[in-house]
Amino acid sequence: MKIIEIQGNKPLSGTIKVSGAKNSAVALIPAAILCDEEVVIENIPDISDTYDLFNILEVLNVKKEYDKPILKLDLRNIRNTIVDKDLSSKLRASYYFMGALLGKFKKAVVYFPGGCSIGSRPIDYHIKGFKQMGATVEIENDKYTISAKNLHGANIYLDFESVGATVNLILAATKAEGTTIIHNAAREPEIVNVATFLNSMGAKITGAGTNEIKIIGVKYLKKGQVEVIPDRIETLTYLIIGALVGKNLKIDNIIPAHIQAPLSKLIDIGVDIKQNNNNIIISAKNDYNSTDIKTLVYPGFPTDVAQPFSVLLTQCKGISHVYETIYENRMGHMPYLNKMGANVQYNLKEAKIKGPTKLKGAEVTATDLRAGAALVCAGLKAEGKTVIFDAEHVLRGYGDLETKLTNVGAKIAIKKIK
Ligand code: EPZ
Repeated sequence: MKIIEIQGNKPLSGTIKVSGAKNSAVALIPAAILCDEEVVIENIPDISDTYDLFNILEVLNVKKEYDKPILKLDLRNIRNTIVDKDLSSKLRASYYFMGALLGKFKKAVVYFPGGCSIGSRPIDYHIKGFKQMGATVEIENDKYTISAKNLHGANIYLDFESVGATVNLILAATKAEGTTIIHNAAREPEIVNVATFLNSMGAKITGAGTNEIKIIGVKYLKKGQVEVIPDRIETLTYLIIGALVGKNLKIDNIIPAHIQAPLSKLIDIGVDIKQNNNNIIISAKNDYNSTDIKTLVYPGFPTDVAQPFSVLLTQCKGISHVYETIYENRMGHMPYLNKMGANVQYNLKEAKIKGPTKLKGAEVTATDLRAGAALVCAGLKAEGKTVIFDAEHVLRGYGDLETKLTNVGAKIAIKKIK
């Protein structure tokens, strides 16, 4: 197991450069297999999810050249093999190989475990869409066999603006016969990143970033190239750290347009920021106003940011609330924040946070990726030493975490124990 040890309450100054977006990279790598030639993907984040996806590419016989952060893939000798349990159970985004293999070979066999600590996270919208495109789906002990004699376009209406379903159905539709329209599609920037990538190969996708996406199927996809967009969730995590302990901390390589909702909440509580076109300089204050946040689909306040943001709310004067509307349970970090001195009353969907409270270091455990990120934020603010167990969760989504934070003055170390 890995742990993160932090000696907190050190002022952080200097520059942190945001990496490529995890939630783009984990979709772009499976999307690449639709290509009939070679692709180049730049700005790949150095996170464990990336390496878990490389293991899947290997069994598919995809030739890979990874010279950080540039990934080159040769798809000419790809083989359609089963994406087995040991490979796909490492990350949920392995479900993108369903749409990609179905789109490429008209057949996909992918082991896919349901659920995780933030919720049951079914994939019924994905499956319903594949079926509307003419696929049959057999599920046996979490193994999905999806195949279509004739994979054709369809008119698909998503009951909920699901990011994963939107991406997976784009992957399946890119080479289907005819036209697919996805109504009530998710609008996240990562979806635009995937569409841009596929269009660079000659795909015909329009409307990505809006609630209506049209895909005209094509037969062949030539050489493609794309750059992974900056990670908006990592951006916000470091801005929150800056609001907690920053001293002119510069968060660089950001796209302000992607973070408007959470940025407006930071401004509401009174953060001290200087915004330039691709970076923000932020300094900590100790008189923040309370506020309420409600998580929504993009462009609303992102559910992935609510957990780190709740640490900042422990430093705001008065009562703040967090209303989680996307998942069943994103409160895994709350008992540990209270152990560190916070005053949070919560249930699975809501938290009531009374501040400001002094945080002190403690032994805590990461229950999921963003809960772990929240505990890193709390540890950097707290007086004394914090040890975060099950740190692997955090390393899935935050590349070069120790280097980035040490370079700006944090006392942080990632260690392997037992
Ligand atoms: C993506 O998950 C992200 N993951 C999540 O980030 C993010 O929180 C989420 O989008 C919402 O923005 C990746 O992109 C790899 P959804 P995804 O499909 O695609 C329900 C992180 O920390 N649902 O929009 O799984 C589902 O249960 C992760 O980086 C169905 O019911 O999200 C959930 O309650 C966490 N049926 C809600 O919709 C379906 O078929 C949102 O799911 C699909 C989803």
